Amino acid sequence: MNYRHSFHAGNFADLVKHALVLWLVTETQPSVVLDTHAGAGLYDLSSDAARSKEAEAGVTQLMRAEGRPPLMQALADRVAAINPGGGVCYYPGSPLLIAEALAPGGRYVGFELNPPVRQMLAEAVAGPANAEAREGDGYDLAVAEAARTRAPLVLIDPPFEKPDDYVRAAETAIAIMRRDPKATVAIWTPLKDLETFDAFIRRLQGRAGPTLVAEARLRPLTNPMKMNGCAMVVVNPPAGCEAAADAICGWVAGALGEAGGRAEVWTF
Ligand SMILES: C[S@@+](CC[C@H](N)C(=O)[O-])C[C@H]1O[C@@H](n2cnc3c(N)ncnc32)[C@H](O)[C@@H]1O
Repeated sequence: MNYRHSFHAGNFADLVKHALVLWLVTETQPSVVLDTHAGAGLYDLSSDAARSKEAEAGVTQLMRAEGRPPLMQALADRVAAINPGGGVCYYPGSPLLIAEALAPGGRYVGFELNPPVRQMLAEAVAGPANAEAREGDGYDLAVAEAARTRAPLVLIDPPFEKPDDYVRAAETAIAIMRRDPKATVAIWTPLKDLETFDAFIRRLQGRAGPTLVAEARLRPLTNPMKMNGCAMVVVNPPAGCEAAADAICGWVAGALGEAGGRAEVWTF
C-alpha cells in the first residue's frame, strides 16, 4: 500500500470526481452513500500536495477562475468553506464533501484499508453525525453493506496501483447492480491509454445496466505513462447526469487542459 492520495488531493481528477459526486448526492439525496476507497477525508495542501504541484494546477486554478459554471461553483463554495481565512490551504476529500451534502437522515459510510489513513478519516468525519469510517477492503465491505440498504449511491475510487483494481471495480459495480437495480454506482478511473480503459468498459457492457461515461482529457492519450485525463463511469445515472457531466468535464478540459484536450460524455 504505497499510494498516498495526499500527493494528488485537489488535482484536476479530484475536481471532476468531486464536482460530479456533489451533484449526484445533491440531486438524488440517497439514503446511504458507500465510499469504497474513502482516503483521509481532509487534505492539508501545504505538504505532499505542495511538492507534487498537482493542487496548484487543479483546485488553485478553480478558485482563481472567473465565470465558473454552477457545478464547479458548488465545489468551489465547499473548498472556500473549509478555508475561512481565504486561500486554498485545505482540500476536502469525498467523505467530507458527501457527508455534508446529504439531507438529514442520509448516511455516509467510508471504507479505508490503510489503518493510519482510516484513523485520519475517522477524525475528519467526527463532526457530521451521519458519517462512519470503517476499516477494511472497500470492495467486499461495500457489496455486503449495499445488500442491507435500498438504492445506495456507491463511489468506487481505487488507487489503481494493483493490477486487479479495474476488474474488482467492475465486478463490485456489477454485484451491487444485480442485487439492486435502483442503486447508482460511480467509478473513477484514470485515462492513460485507451486499451486499458476499453477493456474496463467491455467488462461492464451488458452486465451492469445503463451506463454514462464522462471523460475529461487534458491532452491526447499518446503517452500511456502519464495520467492524460480521467473518467467517471456512472452506472444507472439519474436524469440530468449527462448535462451535469458535460458541464464539469467541459470546464476541466477547457480551463485546465492543453491543446488537444477535450471532454466527451457518452452512454451505453
Ligand atoms: C484515490 S484514494 C481515495 C480518495 C477519496 N475517495 C477522495 O475522493 O477523497 C484511494 C484510497 O483507497 C485506499 N485503499 C486502497 N485499497 C483499498 C481497498 N481495497 N479498500 C479500501 N481502501 C483501499 C488507499 O489507502 C487510499 O487512501
